Amino acid sequence: MKNIAIFASGGGSNARKIIEHFEGSHHVQVVLVVSNKKDAGVLDIARAHHIPTHLIHRADFYDSKEILSVLDKHKVDLIVLAGFLWLVPGYLIEAFPRKIVNIHPALLPLFGGKGMYGAHVHAAVKAAGMKESGITIHYANEQYDAGDIIFQTTCSLSEEDTPETIARKVLALEHEYFPKVIERVMNDE
Ligand code: GAR
Repeated sequence: MKNIAIFASGGGSNARKIIEHFEGSHHVQVVLVVSNKKDAGVLDIARAHHIPTHLIHRADFYDSKEILSVLDKHKVDLIVLAGFLWLVPGYLIEAFPRKIVNIHPALLPLFGGKGMYGAHVHAAVKAAGMKESGITIHYANEQYDAGDIIFQTTCSLSEEDTPETIARKVLALEHEYFPKVIERVMNDE
């Protein structure tokens, strides 16, 4: 069995899809959900699925390596960032080389970097008059949204699209593809 930890800061709709995708799998299981927000919806989703949760605090995350022993305890093989908004510290990247996967709600290298998350991304895509957007699934490194790309797919946009409708189109792609791409990454190991 390969073990996944999901890191998320928000509502956790992607986390839910990933958890559901691997429920009943004999090869992959979600063993831990980590959040930096104590009231994040993703923690309720984890509890509803009887998955252990762990809350991280900024000082511990950046100034100690406490999270490594938590991941070790749960025998985590792959970390999935599903709407996790903190930069991953270098010691964690080093401990999990090419074993941390992030999803970004746009076609990197466009519309990435610090401050580019969630609604900010879709507003920028709209402001730029883009004819398409999409998703990027990539390995995390020590910079925001800069690691090697694993998978991208697009959706077309029209002038009528708003940041909200762009967000809906992109989220639908995330839900459809993120669990499958994670499965592929786990199988390729
Ligand atoms: C997702 O759209 C994800 O791509 C985005 O946060 C959302 C989380 O939604 N991540 C980023 O913007 C990272 N830069 P969810 O909590 O419903 O899964």
